[in-house]
Amino acid sequence: MRILFVGDVFGSAGRRIVREHIAHVIAERGVDLVIVNAENAAGGFGCTPAIAEELFDLGAHVLTTGNHVWDKRELIDYMQSVPPDSHERPRRVLRPANYVAGTPGHGIYEGTLPNGQAYAVINLQGRVFMASNDDPFRKMDAILETIKAKVIFVDFHAEATSEKVALGWYLDGRVTAVVGTHTHVPTADNRVLPGGTAYQTDVGMSGPYESVIGVEKEMVLHRFLTGMPGKFEAAKGDPRMAALLIECDGVTGQAYTTQRLLLGE
Ligand code: FE2
Repeated sequence: MRILFVGDVFGSAGRRIVREHIAHVIAERGVDLVIVNAENAAGGFGCTPAIAEELFDLGAHVLTTGNHVWDKRELIDYMQSVPPDSHERPRRVLRPANYVAGTPGHGIYEGTLPNGQAYAVINLQGRVFMASNDDPFRKMDAILETIKAKVIFVDFHAEATSEKVALGWYLDGRVTAVVGTHTHVPTADNRVLPGGTAYQTDVGMSGPYESVIGVEKEMVLHRFLTGMPGKFEAAKGDPRMAALLIECDGVTGQAYTTQRLLLGE
């Protein structure tokens, strides 16, 4: 079984490059399950229902998010427009599972592909240098008690490399993949850990690389040089789609191989 995970889609440039590449990658690589992190897809801040629908139309089965999940209010209504046991698209948009209990939306989705393959996707957020949320390590222990699928993909949306590496080791042999998002810079450490878990500290952004992590570089430089607040806008130059391709056993959930993709125009 093959899983394609597309890293943080950033703004219109990110959506355009994903539109350009995702279909041929799915077809040529024989991808079964497609997961896309969409938290910055709307101009760098959040995701709208229309953009979520477009990403589903392009082949995504599940969309993950992170700290920008609430930036577009209409996404909250979209996520809540179907019941918790639904398999419709709005239920397949996730927010981090370790947010405070009672937060809108869901952090876990368990589904079945048309070929009968069961899978689960879990979205988590880190605690180092980020807003306070529950412990992602113990939250995963609790979640794994409830998951029936063997193929389990974890998007760990976190700032610190140490926290991501640590969660990878903590879950090695217990899930199919632990893949990091949020820093927007792809890391070169993709591998299969000894217990059979695919791992990469950060998949990187699918967006404009002529930027400072997606934002127009002049705007960010102005802030660093003057300390003054200013508007941030999504950049457009040098768009690339950053993704991780994972091959795994559909019966045991064990990963075999990983391959990094960084596709430009
Ligand atoms: Fe983020």
